[in-house]
Amino acid sequence: MYINIYFSGIFGYVNYLVERTRGEIVNTMLDGMQRLEYRGYDSAGIAIDGDKPNEVLLFKEVGKVAALRKLYENSDTDNKKVFNTHVGIAHTRWATHGQPSPINAHPHRSDPTNEFVVVHNGIITNYREIRALLEGKHFVFETETDTECIAKLAKYVYDLNKHRDLDFTELTKLVLMELQGAYGLLMKSVHYPNEVIATRKGSPLLIGVKTEKKLKVDFVDVEFPEFAEITVDSPMETSNGLLALPQSNGLSNGSLLVPMGDNDLRRSQSRAFVSDDGIPMQIEFFLASDPSAVVEHTKKVLYLMDDDIAHIYDGELHIHRIRREDGQPTIRSIQTLEMELNEIMKGNFDHFMQKEIFEQPDSIINTMRGRVDFEKKTVTLGGLSSYLQTIRRCRRIIMVACGTSYHSCMATRAIFEELSEIPITVELASDFLDRRSPVFRDDTCVFVSQSGETADTMLALQYCIERGALTVGIVNSVGSSISRQTNCGVHINAGPEIGVASTKAYTSQYVALVMMALSLSDDRISKQARRHSIIDGLSKISKQVEEVLALNDRIRAMAETDLINQKSLLLLGRGYQHATALEGALKIKEISYMHSEGVLAGELKHGVLALVDENLPIIVLATHDSLFPKVMSAVEQVIARSGNPILLCNKGENALSKLHKTYRTLEVPATVDCLQGLLNVIPLQLMSYWLAVKKGFDVDFPRNLAKAVTVE
Ligand code: AGP
Repeated sequence: MYINIYFSGIFGYVNYLVERTRGEIVNTMLDGMQRLEYRGYDSAGIAIDGDKPNEVLLFKEVGKVAALRKLYENSDTDNKKVFNTHVGIAHTRWATHGQPSPINAHPHRSDPTNEFVVVHNGIITNYREIRALLEGKHFVFETETDTECIAKLAKYVYDLNKHRDLDFTELTKLVLMELQGAYGLLMKSVHYPNEVIATRKGSPLLIGVKTEKKLKVDFVDVEFPEFAEITVDSPMETSNGLLALPQSNGLSNGSLLVPMGDNDLRRSQSRAFVSDDGIPMQIEFFLASDPSAVVEHTKKVLYLMDDDIAHIYDGELHIHRIRREDGQPTIRSIQTLEMELNEIMKGNFDHFMQKEIFEQPDSIINTMRGRVDFEKKTVTLGGLSSYLQTIRRCRRIIMVACGTSYHSCMATRAIFEELSEIPITVELASDFLDRRSPVFRDDTCVFVSQSGETADTMLALQYCIERGALTVGIVNSVGSSISRQTNCGVHINAGPEIGVASTKAYTSQYVALVMMALSLSDDRISKQARRHSIIDGLSKISKQVEEVLALNDRIRAMAETDLINQKSLLLLGRGYQHATALEGALKIKEISYMHSEGVLAGELKHGVLALVDENLPIIVLATHDSLFPKVMSAVEQVIARSGNPILLCNKGENALSKLHKTYRTLEVPATVDCLQGLLNVIPLQLMSYWLAVKKGFDVDFPRNLAKAVTVE
């Protein structure tokens, strides 16, 4: 059984002809790992070279990177030893197989002398079979992880092929042919000193490049092999060392396709790393699962694609593929990251979540920047423009997402339906897949994701691609899998979101989806007045968010005095505010660990009313729209059962004075009905934040959760 919530971090550092002491190298690695901390992890480890030739040292510890740093500092490792060239690999682990413990932490090794060491994100689904086979070959496993089988498999294949003099790429290809599942991994070996392999399938990996001299070209050529077919000698073991596991990727009807001519491959040289004078270039490489770990060193990065095998040696980066596939790009470009380090730092705030809540006046503006012309009342989404006609003609729009991203779809479904007059369904990605819901070529499927890497959403995307639907991404992370694999889309431009609890991404997704609905309807005269009022609403929304943020102190006090000791909290809303209730409840659950439920106010009398008494705290989203009278009737029902609701309402709401009971209010400015959720959600974000702070919980890294959920 797999534990499902997971997102570990990978970091690697290579210096070539750049003198670094061991202390400097380890610091670079630990700092890189600390940049990945926000993803959530339970243990950490590094692999570096020792003092003797062919010696690799492992340091692994449970807890934060700070604990690993202490472990390293307490060791008697010589920090002053200078390395002209060196490869170090590092990992922050979120347990999937096996408890958090130093032994289960990465890097994992092939044997007690650390011949091959591996750090890995993802899950090897056939690790049990590989493990059983290798145990049959007298390998002794020391951990409960799936990753260990990769290191041991590498050694096994290496030993069997000693006579062939395989290079590191060739060896890796043979290993990968046996792996099923998902991986982003780095591998280092005493047999290939100062070399590293980085490869991925379904788990992100990028390589930062830092040089004094300018790179000759801003891309790296992909190197494809020629293939030779060999006969499999035995069903369990082939002449070149492959295990030929059941469903082995390499096995084909009793014969095996193996790449040949590794020496030929090695002769080719990537054009980016050739210096004019023929003198080897001083260069550093930073390998990571996330750009935040790299950006302080270099902005030049190359994103690996699935099945790429990056091989770094002699100051060069080579990218290989196991197979030549038609239509595959033959280069990987070296891009310039636009993210600034200070963008991913906390600034003056105590927590990333707090910073991100308070960034919303700006992040919302950034989502609209260059896209909404408030004077001409137009919306231009460059990433969608050539697909708008197709979308307008589609039979329906299916929005697919998870968690908070799903709520942003719920929040905007009604305005989509109203403006586009296209049937809209909103789907939780996992449920959509579980049902194998019918999807057709004339459907438009919109995938909403902050990280762009959420496994359920990714799988749903693959499912829709296979069925020929048009796919649209609404994504925050540029270069993420969803943004690359959809036909078209909108980057929400909210900036990096580090707190596990999504806040500014929600409001920016919301705005991006409203902009999409506006774009879709800009050919309809009948919708013009409504469109104009929404665009006017958008023009004021950032200032109004600022006004709502001014409620901070009041909400902090309310959390401290009225709510902190409660076990449960209900949030009631209907129409546009149903999504706000769901999102508020999710925020409260995930960081304050208080049970909280978002309830459609219309459903109150169908069951939930039984819970209501004078003790249960209830927040009612009672801002003014066409459903306001119905919401007030829900409030009356609550009051009639001695309930004591907190009303989130518009400033100076008169209708409330008719209620024959004292009540507490949180007053927010009024905007257009379909935008009101942008304002109403903010007090709930603040409420969850203060509840978590007052309870002393880890706001940015709530227990059991990770920022990106990259496993199904
Ligand atoms: C939000 O606070 C959550 N941490 C979570 O629900 C999140 O929104 C969900 O996992 C989807 O993530 P994504 O937007 O990166 O796809």
